[in-house]
Amino acid sequence: MTGMNNRKEKGYRCAGFVSLCVVFCMAVQAQTSTVNPFPPAPNPDRIVLNVTRDPSTSIAVNWRTCDTVREGFLEIMPVTADPRAVDKALRKQAKSEAFQFEDIAANYHSVTVSGLIPKTLYMYRVGQGAHWSEWFHTKTAGKSGDKLSFIYLGDVQSGIKTLWPRVIRDAYTKMPDANLILYAGDIVNRGNSDLEWGELFYGGSFIHSMIPGMHSPGNHEYARTGDTLSAFWRPQFSLPENGPEGLKESCYYADVQGMRFISINSYRVEESDEDLQKQKVWVDSLLRNNPNQWTTILFHHPFYSIRPTRDNIRMRNTFKPLFDKYKVDIVLQGHDHAYARGMQKIPGATKDEKSGTVYILSVSGSKMSSKFEGGWMDVSATYTQLYQLVTVEGNTLHYKAYTAAGELYDAFDLVKQKGKNNRLVEKK
Ligand SMILES: [Fe+2]
Ligand SMILES: [Fe+2]
Repeated sequence: MTGMNNRKEKGYRCAGFVSLCVVFCMAVQAQTSTVNPFPPAPNPDRIVLNVTRDPSTSIAVNWRTCDTVREGFLEIMPVTADPRAVDKALRKQAKSEAFQFEDIAANYHSVTVSGLIPKTLYMYRVGQGAHWSEWFHTKTAGKSGDKLSFIYLGDVQSGIKTLWPRVIRDAYTKMPDANLILYAGDIVNRGNSDLEWGELFYGGSFIHSMIPGMHSPGNHEYARTGDTLSAFWRPQFSLPENGPEGLKESCYYADVQGMRFISINSYRVEESDEDLQKQKVWVDSLLRNNPNQWTTILFHHPFYSIRPTRDNIRMRNTFKPLFDKYKVDIVLQGHDHAYARGMQKIPGATKDEKSGTVYILSVSGSKMSSKFEGGWMDVSATYTQLYQLVTVEGNTLHYKAYTAAGELYDAFDLVKQKGKNNRLVEKK
């Protein structure tokens, strides 16, 4: 009995100790799960360069601080190796706006600097008082006819802090002089997750601060209820405000070295007749009055999908006739979490009279589609993270897609032909 009682008592004590441990661990876990790994602080973070209407003479920079830092400045000058010369930098005050979302209280700061010299390497920093960023280098774009380079990335969305950083970093290593980085939407998985945006800026680090980004929203930048763009989008980016009313900074365009880049908000096309119509009129006008030799269109929901259940017929029916009529060169998309590139076999294109427009969808993060059905694509891939590098010289566009392992996966040249559709030359 005594022994039994002892065992019981020991068992009780042991159970009590375990219970205490569980409570303690739960308390620690609860505390850990609420700790923000990327809290806003007096030092600037999330410093991002954005494409402007004319990147040859202007730059736009946004950054974040904690809410007690109510003002910010940008200092800029043509690059110099003499560290004493930074005293001569031009200083411009930012537009600073308070940001409160759930438990995040911050200030977002934005500055656009115009009147810069084309094709010139500048150095800049942002901050105030004792809290400044490092000096970043960035080069203004040149003029039409200069060699153009840009990086294109499909959905980031998953593995943002784990498997995606290697992709953006490898892309930057191969093309450090890119004029732009294009994001085809679903940049994060939950558009209102401060954590995921924090992971994005962690993953891309200083690359965001040196190469202007062109961000197009996907369905994941919208709240599940439908029509509200991520609360973070407009405070943290300064994209050109030249799109249709109500869709500014998700629909916009920029002319860069002979290429017209247009971002379409495909989610709103899929969701709203009114937003579809607005964008149709707007895109028609941009393509009709396009002084550039080349045109790239960026959006999220692909015209041609990897399987019939993901068909985006509203997008295709709205814009395909315009892209054909105005001979758009390349269309860069995401959404399907796979890779597909096609021109030769797209519906409606005959062997002799090919479309002339190349349609591509890609993925840079770790979420992958498990089902894949062929059809329109000339080249495709599943379970492969990729990034794409594009250069344009004269009448030829050179396209290369690399896997996250750094291997060349797809390559072609697109050649302008006077009075005829583009000629595609396979390079791999
Ligand atoms: Fe999507
Ligand atoms: Fe996605």
